[in-house]
Amino acid sequence: MNALSVIQGEHRNLGLTLMCFEKLLSDTAHQRREPNVMLFRAIINYLDSFLYRFHHPKEDDFLFPALCRRYPTAGKLVQSLQNDHHNGAKFCLQLDETLTACESDEDRFVDFHEAALIYISYERRHIGTEEAELLPLARQHLTESDWEPINNSFVKNDDPMFGDQPKQRYQKLSRLITNVCIFNDPLL
Ligand SMILES: [Fe+2]
Ligand SMILES: [Fe+2]
Repeated sequence: MNALSVIQGEHRNLGLTLMCFEKLLSDTAHQRREPNVMLFRAIINYLDSFLYRFHHPKEDDFLFPALCRRYPTAGKLVQSLQNDHHNGAKFCLQLDETLTACESDEDRFVDFHEAALIYISYERRHIGTEEAELLPLARQHLTESDWEPINNSFVKNDDPMFGDQPKQRYQKLSRLITNVCIFNDPLL
């Protein structure tokens, strides 16, 4: 297992999580159901605890600097991806606060729904740019010795939901993601 396959696997899992998030939002809005705050919170907690504390920081600390050293022309792209990381973490925190407001006032779900859809397309665009622009440059320019510390850092990632030892608190969310992705039915 090397860093590239870990990163791409994490991007795929993040894509599944965002797809599930979007489906849950749309079902809640269209079926006029009471928002399942617990599940929405599990999604946000997962993003906060993994994406912003493991995945992005390792890109910032290992992959991006190595690419900029080897291929300085990538500097502008890297800077914009780093800005995405920084702003995405703040965005996620704001989503959590909007969700907290929904707990006491269901009418606030409209605000949460709107902000969450913007957040979902924000993170999809970010992953898309890394996949389409950054990773091909890394593949092309980084040498074997450049990859060594990057590989060492990424293989230690322990995804709390999709990793080897999934945490119990994400079991329900993990089931939901399977149901949405395989059976297209979050209510199974
Ligand atoms: Fe990233
Ligand atoms: Fe990434």
